Amino acid sequence: MRRKLAAGNWKMNGGNAELDDLRTIGERHSAAAVDILICPPFTLIAAAAQIAGSISIGGQNCHAAASGAHTGDISAQMLADVGASAVILGHSERREDYSETSDEVRAKAHAAHAAGLIAIICVGENLAQREAQNTLDIIGGQLATSVPDIANGENTVIAYEPCWAIGTGLTPTTDQIGGVHDFIRARLEKRLGTGAGRSIRLLYGGSVKAGNAAEIFAVSNVDGALVGGASLKANDFSPIISALEVSANAS
Ligand code: PGA
Repeated sequence: MRRKLAAGNWKMNGGNAELDDLRTIGERHSAAAVDILICPPFTLIAAAAQIAGSISIGGQNCHAAASGAHTGDISAQMLADVGASAVILGHSERREDYSETSDEVRAKAHAAHAAGLIAIICVGENLAQREAQNTLDIIGGQLATSVPDIANGENTVIAYEPCWAIGTGLTPTTDQIGGVHDFIRARLEKRLGTGAGRSIRLLYGGSVKAGNAAEIFAVSNVDGALVGGASLKANDFSPIISALEVSANAS
């Protein structure tokens, strides 16, 4: 059984004051039937890890090297050192804004694994690719190159995030989400073997909110969500976590 995961990606948002929201989530969901992960900006990770309780803390990126002359960068080991247990890699904003390639994402995933972090590897098509009906080709290519051969349910999570759904309020239909998640599951099983391929959690991300969480969590092969905007405030994130708990209890 895959344990469900509600992951929050704060992106470049939040200062010390916002740690109160994290504390509130931890208090409200201290005995949650699902895993909860919050990925604040680098500056808050150490403080967040101190107050997180049962919530896990993650980074939003890391460098592929363990250390060295890389001004402004952060290594996976550094994240682990201040209490992170996971790191988001290959988010579409990084693939677009910094031209991150799938080869680089795989190298970062290796670094994350070496540091004992769970690599949350993001894949997703943009609107032009979806309209040209290239979605599965794009996702298949990103998976083939971004995911290391040693990926398994302990060290890797895959997040399907259609670029056009991120921060837009648009979401794919549940059929579209299910189609992509079933495809990802089949690809992982073929590549990594049934055991490892079946154990990797698949998150959906892109405009998940309280109002659509339950229907998304009912889709086959959706093991949770990667939530951006709606993870910033405890009152927005909490109902999403609760919806995931309902779906965990039902399955
Ligand atoms: P969103 O972002 O929930 O604000 O659409 C999701 C993400 O980018 O991870």
